[in-house]
Amino acid sequence: MSSVLIAPSMLASDFGNLQRDVEMVNNSDADWFHIDVMDGHFVPNISYGMPIIQAIKKHATKPLDVHLMIEKPERYIEEFANVGADIITVHHESTVHLHRTLTQIENVGCKAGVVLNLTTPVSVLEDILPKCFMVLLMSINPGFGGQKFEDMTYARVRKLRKMILDQGLDTRIEIDGGVSNKNAKALVDAGADVLVAGSYIFKSNNQTETIKDLKSLANS
Ligand code: DX5
Ligand code: ZN
Repeated sequence: MSSVLIAPSMLASDFGNLQRDVEMVNNSDADWFHIDVMDGHFVPNISYGMPIIQAIKKHATKPLDVHLMIEKPERYIEEFANVGADIITVHHESTVHLHRTLTQIENVGCKAGVVLNLTTPVSVLEDILPKCFMVLLMSINPGFGGQKFEDMTYARVRKLRKMILDQGLDTRIEIDGGVSNKNAKALVDAGADVLVAGSYIFKSNNQTETIKDLKSLANS
């Protein structure tokens, strides 16, 4: 398998020093910027939208992985592509015509992924899997950073990795929520290959070192 990627979640960055934090990620071992968009409907919190993504894009030298926690994301795909999204993931639970939404993402030139909430069975992906560049499994209830990682995630990753192998695909599995040095290795052993981390990175004293250590642990 290719190397395990680290995607710092900008939700936990210091918005007053956004350029500084973007440059920290540029100059670190991280691979992608993870960008959480919340609408106050699909999840009980509002984060940020297009102007902030555009500001991040202006300075970013790595791909933007945009995680849409919004109802009916199909309404905004083109706009997110226009402000610089490289990967767009949408929740299975947020869009009725998932296949059409993924096609929309492909048509604007972005990589398309599906996100599952903690209790949505991975089996719902069986037919759509070949169309997914990536599947994001939530390891918390989405809406807020800094929550506790749910151990049920390991079994879900194993199940999904088996489905991917059985279909002869190389779909990436991304994990989001409460990721730290305590669970990174076990997640990779279960079959994960992209780790999102927000508070673990941005609340640490040396963010660059934390990213470096997390990445080498994940790839050990
Ligand atoms: C939560 C977001 C996460 C969040 C992760 O709904 O999807 O990306 O920023 O933050 P931590 O790593 O602090 O749990
Ligand atoms: Zn996220």
